[in-house]
Amino acid sequence: MTNRTGPELRMPASLAASLTCPVCARPLGRGLTCAGGHSFDVAREGYASLLTGATPPGSGDSRDMVAARQRFQERGHYDPIGRALAEELEGRHVIVDVGGGTGHYLTQILTALPDAVGLTTDVSKFAARRAARAHPRSGAVTADSWRRLPLADHTADALINVFAPRNAPEFHRVLRPSGVLLVVTPAPDHLREPRAALGLLDVDPARTNAWPRAWGTTSRRSPPAICASRWNWPTRRS
Ligand SMILES: C[S@@+](CC[C@H](N)C(=O)[O-])C[C@H]1O[C@@H](n2cnc3c(N)ncnc32)[C@H](O)[C@@H]1O
Ligand SMILES: [Zn+2]
Repeated sequence: MTNRTGPELRMPASLAASLTCPVCARPLGRGLTCAGGHSFDVAREGYASLLTGATPPGSGDSRDMVAARQRFQERGHYDPIGRALAEELEGRHVIVDVGGGTGHYLTQILTALPDAVGLTTDVSKFAARRAARAHPRSGAVTADSWRRLPLADHTADALINVFAPRNAPEFHRVLRPSGVLLVVTPAPDHLREPRAALGLLDVDPARTNAWPRAWGTTSRRSPPAICASRWNWPTRRS
């Protein structure tokens, strides 16, 4: 009889214990199987593959997009964003980066905060492949931010969201009552030159400005729990 052990989940124990089933919301645990009989795979790279059929395969960033972003970020152009996030998160222990891509900022944060652990969620398997191996104190799951996040209530001391979709009710559920949410959105002239050259959409200030208000309508907590920062290129904070 062959011993068929699958790939190992690369994830801090406390975060693995907080994973929930994306179908029925029961606890999943390290084995990625819930009491309702739903089970999920650990990918070869060590992330938990928690997308359901409700999210079309291929959602989120493609392989090339993920690789291009990683090449750009590795040159350090956006490191001031990671440094600013890490400063704000001093003293926090469980940090979840929602729509976190390759885990670039989470890696910077965990390097600065030796007692913290982290998790990247992203709908793109290409991003999750990299995020799963980004830092020894972090893990990754594929998950759709427009659906229920596969995490228990009040899992996170801090959520970060950098240039990625935001789901206020879910952020509220997953954050601890004392938690903090850090949102980074583009300023109106973010990447203006390449956007103009390529005929891409402008950043709509009404949309990014509206979001802290959207949070306020779904949160019993006061707005200072949100730290919204807008960035443009090169990395200046507005
Ligand atoms: C502009 S990138 C930012 C990635 C990362 N936060 C960073 O700044 O490096 C947007 C990310 O959101 C992810 N994304 C898009 N739609 C998503 C969804 N519905 N649920 C979760 N992630 C999503 C993409 O795959 C991509 O990694
Ligand atoms: Zn289930």
